[in-house]
Amino acid sequence: MAKAPKKTKSSPIAKSPASSAGKVPVKGGTRVAEESGSRSAPIINIGIERQDRAAIAEGLSRVLADTYTLYLTTHNFHWNVTGPHFNSLHAMFMAQYTELWTSTDVIAERIRALGHYAPGSYAEFSKIATVPDVPEHPPKAMEMVRILVKGHETVSRIAREFIPVAEEAGDDPTADMLTARCTVHDQTAWMLRSLLEE
Ligand SMILES: [Fe+2]
Repeated sequence: MAKAPKKTKSSPIAKSPASSAGKVPVKGGTRVAEESGSRSAPIINIGIERQDRAAIAEGLSRVLADTYTLYLTTHNFHWNVTGPHFNSLHAMFMAQYTELWTSTDVIAERIRALGHYAPGSYAEFSKIATVPDVPEHPPKAMEMVRILVKGHETVSRIAREFIPVAEEAGDDPTADMLTARCTVHDQTAWMLRSLLEE
């Protein structure tokens, strides 16, 4: 009978997530993305080593937490933007949060395909996200744009950092997905930054 996969051990990263947010995960990953599985199902066998799947799932979990936080910030700004540019920013933020929201599903389901649980709670996201939480009080319109530029650039950096982890493990689908995410974040950051240039 096939053995059930063991749970990954706790690690310093799991204990102090804030200080390690955004770091490239080591082989085997941490409890950031807990391994799933059951004795009644065959062990996952997609040609990517278990240790590598764990590291990739951890990297993807961090990208997911940051993408979700940036999604929520953008949706908040869609609701709360004020000033003479209301119409254009309100509409632009909607297009951006819709794209971010859609991408969270793709990232989370890739984590599941690698045999790990996807994080999906505010508690988990706040532990592993690098992007700061939504501001308590709505900032002025151009400050919102500045915050979103930084957010998109941060997610792009985090995603780009994990591409070699996926590539070295032969996980082309994850590497391609992260590359596509970097393209979107870089382009969105450029468009937002253009609003700030006189
Ligand atoms: Fe709306």
